[in-house]
Amino acid sequence: MSVRVVLLGPPGVGKGTQGRRLAAQHRWSLISTGEILRDAVARKTLLGLEARKRMDSGLLVPDDVMIGLVRDRSAEDDSAAGFVLDGFPRTVPQANALDSMLQARGQRPDAAVGFDAPAEELVRRLSARRECPVCKRTYNLVTAPPQNNQECDDHPGTVLTQREDDKEETVRKRLQVYREQTSPLLDYYRGQGRLRMVPATGPVDDVYHSLSRALGC
Ligand code: AP5
Repeated sequence: MSVRVVLLGPPGVGKGTQGRRLAAQHRWSLISTGEILRDAVARKTLLGLEARKRMDSGLLVPDDVMIGLVRDRSAEDDSAAGFVLDGFPRTVPQANALDSMLQARGQRPDAAVGFDAPAEELVRRLSARRECPVCKRTYNLVTAPPQNNQECDDHPGTVLTQREDDKEETVRKRLQVYREQTSPLLDYYRGQGRLRMVPATGPVDDVYHSLSRALGC
C-alpha cells in the first residue's frame, strides 16, 4: 500500500525523530526539507547559498523554491511505495501546491499528523540537540546523550556540533514563524478531514506508539 503522510508541528517537537522511525518501519521514503537544505548549504550549491541566510535567521525559504524541490524529490523512484514529509508544507501556498502535484499523479496526502508540545519544552530540547557532522545522527544532551561525552557513538573522535538555528534567540524566532505561517495548516487539513493530532510530550517510544495508533499502522 502506498501512503503519503505529512508531519506538522513546531521546531523541536520531534518530526525528524518520529519521521525517521516511521519511514524506516514501513520502508517509505523520508523527505525532510530541512535536511535537503542543510545538505545544500554544506555543499555550497546555489540553493544552499540562497537558503543559508534565511535559515540561520529562523525565516522560511521562499515557497517557489521549496515547491520545486519537493515536486522533484517526491517523484523519485524510492517514493513510489509511499513517503513521509517532514517540514513540508509549511505555508498554505505550499499545501495547495502539494495537493495539486499529487492530484496530477492521481494521489493525495493520506494523513497530516499535528504534533504538539509546550513552547518551553521545545526550547529546552533544541538547546540540547547536537548532531554528528559526519553521519548527521542527532542526539540530545539531556534525553538521548552520546555514550562518550560529546562524541558520536558511530564516529569516535568526532565532536558533535550544534545547529546554527538552535541558538535560543533563533529558536524563538522559528516558533513565532511557525505560529504565524505554519499553524494555519492545522485548520487546512482539519477541513479536509485528514488531521490526526498526536501529543509529543513523554518518551520517544510513547509518542511513536501514539503516532502509529493515529495512523492505524
Ligand atoms: P527543519 O529542519 O525542518 O526544522 P524544524 O521544523 O524547525 O524542525 P527541527 O528539525 O528543529 O525539529 P523536529 O521537529 O524535527 O525535532 P527533532 O526530531 O529533531 O527546517 C530548518 C529550516 O529550513 C527552517 O527554519 C526553514 O528556514 C527551512 N525550511 C525547511 N523546510 C521548509 C519549507 N517547507 N519551507 C520554507 N522553509 C523551509 O527533535 C528535536 C530534539 O528533541 C532532538 O534533540 C531530539 O532528540 C529531542 N526529542 C525528540 N522527541 C523527544 C521526546 N519525545 N522527548 C524528549 N526529547 C525529544
